[in-house]
Amino acid sequence: MQIRLFKPSFNNDEIESIKEAFKLPWLGYGKKVKKFEKDFSKFIGSKFSIGLNSCTAALHIALAVNNFKRKKKVLVPVMTFSATAASVLYNDLEPIFVDINKDNLNINFDDLKKKYTKDCVALLAVHFGGHPCEMDKITDWARKKKLIVIEDCAHTLGGEFKGKKLGTWGDFGCYSFEDKKIISTGDGGTLCTNNKKKFELLKSISFHGWSKDPWERHKKRKNKNHWYYQIQNLGFKYNMNDLIASIAISQLKKLKNFNRIRIKILREYIFQLKDLKNFTFAIDYRLKNSCYWLLILKTKKRDKFINYLKLNGISSTVHLMPLNYHPLYKKYKAKTPISNKTWKNLVSLPLFIDLKKNQIDYIVKKIKEFDKNYFNF
Ligand SMILES: Cc1ncc(COP(=O)(O)O)c(C=O)c1O
Repeated sequence: MQIRLFKPSFNNDEIESIKEAFKLPWLGYGKKVKKFEKDFSKFIGSKFSIGLNSCTAALHIALAVNNFKRKKKVLVPVMTFSATAASVLYNDLEPIFVDINKDNLNINFDDLKKKYTKDCVALLAVHFGGHPCEMDKITDWARKKKLIVIEDCAHTLGGEFKGKKLGTWGDFGCYSFEDKKIISTGDGGTLCTNNKKKFELLKSISFHGWSKDPWERHKKRKNKNHWYYQIQNLGFKYNMNDLIASIAISQLKKLKNFNRIRIKILREYIFQLKDLKNFTFAIDYRLKNSCYWLLILKTKKRDKFINYLKLNGISSTVHLMPLNYHPLYKKYKAKTPISNKTWKNLVSLPLFIDLKKNQIDYIVKKIKEFDKNYFNF
């Protein structure tokens, strides 16, 4: 058996949706993107959404739209994907790395408060693996400190914390539809916000900084000077296009069902793996109204375990080596003892919605074999 770690889930719906897009003489930034943005806002419960080409783009402009002074500081969890912290550097700001929680790998609220200085202007809350950060405490505290809160929701879509969807607690929510994510369009992303003024600026900077996007101009083509636009801001080419939006519309319709299946798979894993001696769950999974992207175990013989899985046809990986271990981020020194210790034991196992019961049983069997013979490895 060969089992992948992640796999996007498509069927004829997406193919039909793409065919529809091809029927229009328009594949760029057009009415499919507009429809997707409307659907997304309704689903997530936010006033405004912008279809983008990635979550990286969303993070970049969610910071850029605030026009922070150069070299100001942004609080970032030390254990996150490179793009979270890169968005800080793109804006000529500096990351302050914050440690993680022992029981769920998310940003540690006490350390967040400790690392705060008067130079801080924003914080990035990453719902790691899909586990919700403590958004009630974080947003209350951040408001008092006048910090902008950006939620990096690349690992979750539709998951809730205290009855409110992740990505709608802070000032901005950033989502990823990259190949391996909760829904997938190959590459893609979205940014949501309730702030109208910032939304308008974000829309402009996500498309060359123009005053009007091409679809608005096209729609008014019968008017005089329909072609006219101004370059008002230094913008980027970060928009989603109609081809990608056609897939996103179709995937979004399936999301509730996808999330039900994710919960079912995780419940099965947790039930079958609860009595292991040499493994623990890296996240204290709370499955109700959740959307988890990662199943992560902790074991002291992590690298031997990954190799054992490989020999048995099971893909696995490590999420993630802390950023301050990477050459680019070494100079942003910070005390992060929990992440330094924890990451060495982490291993992510296959989790995708087309994973079958017999594949889960096989993975569990191999984990149990390793656990039983642990001292021989
Ligand atoms: C936490 C986190 N943020 C941001 C991103 C970037 O997403 P994208 O590939 O859509 O730019 C990723 C990608 O895996 C991620 O894991």
